[in-house]
Amino acid sequence: MNKKILGRLASGIALAAAVSAAPALAQTKEINIYSQRQNYLIQPLLDTFSKETGIKVNVIFAQNGLVERMKAEGANSPADLLLTADIGFLTNAVEAGVTQPIKSETVEKNIPANYRDPSGQWVGLTSRARVIYASKERVKQDTITYAELADPKWKGKICIRSGQHAYNLALIAGIIAHDGEAKAKEWLKGVKANLATKPAGGDREQAKAIFSGQCDIAIGNTYYMALMASNEKEPDQKKWAEAVKVLFPDAAGRGTHTNISGVVLAKNAPNKESAIKLVEFLTGDEAQKIYADLNNEYPLKKGVALSPVVASWGTLNPDPVSLADIGKHRKRASELVDEVGFDQGPSS
Ligand SMILES: [Fe+2]
Repeated sequence: MNKKILGRLASGIALAAAVSAAPALAQTKEINIYSQRQNYLIQPLLDTFSKETGIKVNVIFAQNGLVERMKAEGANSPADLLLTADIGFLTNAVEAGVTQPIKSETVEKNIPANYRDPSGQWVGLTSRARVIYASKERVKQDTITYAELADPKWKGKICIRSGQHAYNLALIAGIIAHDGEAKAKEWLKGVKANLATKPAGGDREQAKAIFSGQCDIAIGNTYYMALMASNEKEPDQKKWAEAVKVLFPDAAGRGTHTNISGVVLAKNAPNKESAIKLVEFLTGDEAQKIYADLNNEYPLKKGVALSPVVASWGTLNPDPVSLADIGKHRKRASELVDEVGFDQGPSS
């Protein structure tokens, strides 16, 4: 054989090898998740999925920087899915261009439309309500509205974390969606005037402030109440939870503001098919029940039971405004927080 033919043969063999390797790679069933949600919250779900399907799931956890990492990795990113909490982080991922639509009839059937992006770029998996933590001792009323928090009767009695935190931005964005910017701004001014102190800490610190008598009313997410009440590592938190009752704002009216935890499908997902299977699983009855019990969040699929502690707070009537709408108003919400000097506290 001459050199030319040998060369062609060699490249032909290389090509054949490459072609036969390609389907093997595409068929590999392992899913890679980038997760901003802590392992203990999601591992039992993934273990159940793996057991039922034989599909292995690898998780890389990080509190920050996962979207930036996906962006930097580009076409070579091993990520199939990104799991995160809050509409803000989901919107950021879409805006960074690292997502692609999740197209699945199962998902559309399981998750109501107001908890999904209209084009499928993100899907909500669970929800949490942003409720009022009220002092059992000093707050007599058992109903409340968000609007009422701006009433001077609460002067010096309200505690809240930074107005710029994602949870509060979504709440304010919801008020913009319902009432418009001007009213939202007036509301922020009113709440600021009622603050007991400068916004600081997380939601749990606000419950602590109620326990210690610094304020009577705070705003916080539902699941923290469950986390505090069962905190064996820091039993002091049990006392904070015991000092507080949960009031669902606007329960009888337009409903209580809720936010979501959710998922996006990575733009360059190497195992797209398996990844969508996992999203379908996470929105199904079995996983939704695990979410409810393990995370003390609200399942989004209809008919799935709440955890006993969540059920003990009463019935949630969620504000039906779409999370996509809330996502759109977040930027303006953030500007309003600065415009009224919310984070400077009551005195400036
Ligand atoms: Fe949280």
